[in-house]
Amino acid sequence: MKIIAIVSSPRGKNSNTLKLLNAALEGVAAAGAEAEVIDIAKLKIKYCTACDVCHKTGVCPIKDDFNGVLEKLLVADGIIWSSPNYITNVSAQLKTFFDRTPRVIHEHLFEGKYAFSLTTAGSQDVDFVLDIMNNFMKMCGGKVIGGAGCIMAQGPMDMEAAISKSYELGTHLVEAIREKSKYPDQEALHHAWKDSFRHAIIANKEEWPHNVDHWISKGWL
Ligand SMILES: Cc1cc2nc3c(=O)[nH]c(=O)nc-3n(C[C@H](O)[C@H](O)[C@H](O)COP(=O)(O)O)c2cc1C
Repeated sequence: MKIIAIVSSPRGKNSNTLKLLNAALEGVAAAGAEAEVIDIAKLKIKYCTACDVCHKTGVCPIKDDFNGVLEKLLVADGIIWSSPNYITNVSAQLKTFFDRTPRVIHEHLFEGKYAFSLTTAGSQDVDFVLDIMNNFMKMCGGKVIGGAGCIMAQGPMDMEAAISKSYELGTHLVEAIREKSKYPDQEALHHAWKDSFRHAIIANKEEWPHNVDHWISKGWL
């Protein structure tokens, strides 16, 4: 079983969000699995240039660390996303990474993978930021098992509760992967997305040959 944990705070070992991630990793270990941590804040990941090449060839042509991280995610069974709340959003590091993944979305390449998300905020909008990460995962065809976060201004009790929840999510992620847990509402969402996105694939069939081949190979077109 392969689980990748994404760190995206620039604060390294001082990161509040890392405390939640470390608890989640303990949960993963307690359930008998291991996770590889990738700190994208320490990598070179440039902005998407909207060149559309990934939809034509299946490969992003930008020379940096993105393709290496994506390769690891594509063979993972589970993903843990983590980010601090930056201006009611994920960190710029994580948003820049998300923007590089349009092929993952067009081809639903995280299908069959499970994930959860972690965040910390100074004062507000924990659920909003968790939704950004979890909705991204669903847009990529993946399944979301939950999220945990806390508001730093609410003090250590709030952090302790989020640490416990993060640990539990770590164990649940391993169980969900082992048991291939079903989430009918999310599967319905994926079906609805394919029904509507099919029109975009057909309309762009000349520009997006890699996406078209993928859809045909999956029997979606
Ligand atoms: C650039 C920046 C933007 C931030 N924006 C918000 C915000 O919109 N709302 C909020 O509640 N906290 C905000 N914060 C506070 C962080 O979310 C909070 O300190 C968080 O715990 C940092 O996590 P980290 O230590 O893992 O980086 C912001 C912090 C920074 C540096």
